[in-house]
Amino acid sequence: MITTKNNIYLAPLDNVNCASFRLLCKECGAGLVSTPMINTKSFIRERENFYWYKNEQPLLAQFIGSEPDEFKECVQELDNCDVIDLNAGCPSDDQIKAGNGAALLKDLPLMKRIIKTMVKYSPVPVSVKIRKGWEEDDCIKIGLLIEAAGAEFITLHPRTKFEGYGTPADWSAVKKLKKSVKIPVIASGDLLTPENVKECFDKTECDAVMIGRAAINNPFIFRDSEDYLKTNELVKHSKIERINLIKRFIELYHKYEKRYDLAELRNHCAWLVKEFKGARKLRDNIGRCKTEEEILKII
Ligand SMILES: Cc1cc2nc3c(=O)[nH]c(=O)nc-3n(C[C@H](O)[C@H](O)[C@H](O)COP(=O)(O)O)c2cc1C
Repeated sequence: MITTKNNIYLAPLDNVNCASFRLLCKECGAGLVSTPMINTKSFIRERENFYWYKNEQPLLAQFIGSEPDEFKECVQELDNCDVIDLNAGCPSDDQIKAGNGAALLKDLPLMKRIIKTMVKYSPVPVSVKIRKGWEEDDCIKIGLLIEAAGAEFITLHPRTKFEGYGTPADWSAVKKLKKSVKIPVIASGDLLTPENVKECFDKTECDAVMIGRAAINNPFIFRDSEDYLKTNELVKHSKIERINLIKRFIELYHKYEKRYDLAELRNHCAWLVKEFKGARKLRDNIGRCKTEEEILKII
C-alpha cells in the first residue's frame, strides 16, 4: 500500500474530478485524489487531454477498457502518479456494451489478464475498483482473483451492477472481503457525512475510505471526517468559509486547467453552493450565468 497522510480519499468521479477540483480536495485534507476514469483508447489517441500535476500527489489514475494491450500501452512509463487503478465497476450502458467497467465482473479470466498486464508493465502499484458482483455478491471470489493477479489493493463499492444509489451500500460485503484477502481494502459507498465515515471504519475495519458524491458539494468533508475520527465532534463551516472555498476553486481553475470551459466552472460553483440557504435558487441562477463575473457576483 502506498503511504498517505490519512486514509480518507477522493473517489474517481467522471465529469467532476478535474485537476483544480482534485487540488481543492487535497487542500481540504484528502489523503489521496483520483482522476476520473480514463478510457484506454482515448488516452492512447489523445494523451495531451489527460493531465495531472506533481502537487496533486498522492494521485490514483484510473483507466477503463477491455483490451490488455491497450492497458500495456497506457501504463508503461506512467510514473508521474502513485497508483494505477482498473475500473471494474462502471455500470453505464455504453461501457458495458464495450465490455468495460462492471462487464469485467462477469469475465474474470479477462479481468485477470488485464490486471497481470498492468502489474507487469506499470512502474507504480496497481489497484482495482470493483462492485460486489454482476447480479449477486461475488466479492470474495473476485477479490481473491485480484489479489492473486498481483494488485496491491482493492476498492469495493458494495453494490451489484444493477443496484443504484437507492439501494444502501452493503458494508457487510466490505467486512467480508477485508477478512478474506491479505491486501488492503478500501470502502466506497454512502460515505455522505463524517459520521458515515466513522461508522464505515468501525463496521468494516477497512484500510481506507473513498468519498464520492459528498465531496462534490462539500470538499470540507475530508478534514471534517479526519477531525471527527479523532474528536467525535462535528465542525460547522461559516458562510464566509464556503464562499472562500468557491473563490479558491475558481483561482485553481485559472491556474491549472489547460482549457477554460465556462460550463465546467459553472457546474462546480453550482455544486459548491449546496450547503447555503436557498441553494436551489442559487444553483439555478448560477446555471444561467454567461460569464464568470456574473457567477462571482452571485457568490
Ligand atoms: C458523478 C459520478 C461519477 C463517477 N465516476 C466514477 C468513475 O469515473 N470511476 C469509478 O470507479 N467510479 C465512479 N463513480 C462511483 C464513485 O467513485 C463511488 O464509488 C460511488 O459514487 C459511491 O460512493 P459515494 O456514495 O461516496 O458517492 C462515480 C460516481 C458519481 C456520482
